[in-house]
Amino acid sequence: MFKYSLHAAVIVTAVLFAQSALAQEAAPMLQQSAAMAASAPRDPALKPVFAEFGGKQGLVSLMNDFMDNLVADPRTRPYFENADREHIKAELVDQFCVILDGPCTYTGKSMATAHRNLGINRAGFNALVEDLQKAMSKHDIPFRAQNKLLAKLAPMHSAVITKK
Ligand code: HEM
Repeated sequence: MFKYSLHAAVIVTAVLFAQSALAQEAAPMLQQSAAMAASAPRDPALKPVFAEFGGKQGLVSLMNDFMDNLVADPRTRPYFENADREHIKAELVDQFCVILDGPCTYTGKSMATAHRNLGINRAGFNALVEDLQKAMSKHDIPFRAQNKLLAKLAPMHSAVITKK
């Protein structure tokens, strides 16, 4: 369990590092990264991963545990305890479903708009990732499938984190 968390954390960190290194070098990459952060890009290569998550029903069930973790975690509870959790879960289902090339449409806000007034820092972001990993492991989602999703979420950090 610890090994898995550590491994995934290393992957997320590596993605973040690669993003910042690329962003310094190439403006087109920066634009691409901004586009990824603003929307929920569909990746047809992840269709098999959608099945490993148990399809849309699997995502609905995953999100219940993910949100329970977020409310139980003192690091993330302040953000979620007074929020419309049912709404956020529904948007997350659609967002993850689209990323994994499922038959869904994401009609929620851009990541920048949804998070701009929340004052989220890197520690908060990492806490949310850990709470998601915990939920995915509870749902027996294969480790490789978990990391495929996490690799898509990691670049969103630039839109979500607004505070040092
Ligand atoms: C990759 C990371 C993240 C993703 C993919 C994500 C995704 C989402 C989505 C899809 C929504 C709903 C947008 C809508 O209402 O249309 C949302 C809202 C929200 N997120 Fe995130 N989020 C991320 C990180 C975080 C973090 C780190 C926190 C706090 C620790 C957070 C706190 C919130 C809160 C409180 C709302 C509701 C805001 C409101 O009431 O308008 N999110 N997020």
